[in-house]
Amino acid sequence: MENVAGKVVVITGASSGLGAETARHLVEAGAKVALGARRKDRLDALVDELGSDNARAFQVDVTKREQVEAFVKGSKEHFGRIDVMLHNAGLMPMAPLSMNRYDEWEQCIDVNLKGVLYGVGAVLPIMKEQGSGQNIFVSSVAGHVVNSVSAVYCATKFGVRAIAESLRQEVKEDGLRTTILSPGAVESELPGSVKAEGVQEAIADFYEKQAIPASSFARAAVYAISQPEEVDINEILFRPTSQTF
Ligand SMILES: NC(=O)c1ccc[n+]([C@@H]2O[C@H](COP(=O)([O-])OP(=O)(O)OC[C@H]3O[C@@H](n4cnc5c(N)ncnc54)[C@H](OP(=O)(O)O)[C@@H]3O)[C@@H](O)[C@H]2O)c1
Repeated sequence: MENVAGKVVVITGASSGLGAETARHLVEAGAKVALGARRKDRLDALVDELGSDNARAFQVDVTKREQVEAFVKGSKEHFGRIDVMLHNAGLMPMAPLSMNRYDEWEQCIDVNLKGVLYGVGAVLPIMKEQGSGQNIFVSSVAGHVVNSVSAVYCATKFGVRAIAESLRQEVKEDGLRTTILSPGAVESELPGSVKAEGVQEAIADFYEKQAIPASSFARAAVYAISQPEEVDINEILFRPTSQTF
């Protein structure tokens, strides 16, 4: 795969789902990956699978700014540079607003928005100094359309697109690339973050019927990375063929 081999890719939320599968595809294409998440045992197993020359695990809670900074700094120290950061960690605690699930609102905003901002803050100086780099943001179909049980999740995913587009304009002159990937239902552990009674069952059922393999996302990420440096893939929105909304 052109323009992927040899690149160093930092991935948040690499312990499962889309992040883990993208790490596999990237290593297959010759990249090196720095894997971040809270579940270190999962990351260590993935490093074993991918090989310690190709992958390194970092325990990080993206809601803690100093931990995100340490993750990015450690990745740079270990691999010598950072070509891409995939801002992927996220959760989807869907519920009607009237349920007043305040803890979930805060956690969703802390991980999906503040975690992303901490990643950008940590990696941008490195990419600017290099004069190259690519930030890949993970929004969602829920960053394009809303429904009645996903106000806070949608707010974070619309927000991710706003952050990404603003960053794209800001770092144009630094030669940096900015990509937004917006998947529909993809197989992962994400439905497990829906805890609200009534909603949980409906989402689990929807994913069981509709979700497509995580490789669909990984291929989109690798495609965006693999373009020549002067080509900036800004946004990819994709759904299962059977997904209506
Ligand atoms: N699957 C879909 O249908 C779909 C659709 C649209 C968008 N997305 C987006 O895709 C991204 C990846 O989700 P996924 O589908 O792969 O779900 P997943 O399997 O549940 O993965 C979520 C990842 O985020 C990590 N994470 C959660 N909280 C974290 C924290 N505080 N600090 C660090 N890492 C944290 C988890 O790791 P630990 O628990 O080990 O920390 C895990 O690796 C999310 O942003 C999600 O919103 C997914």
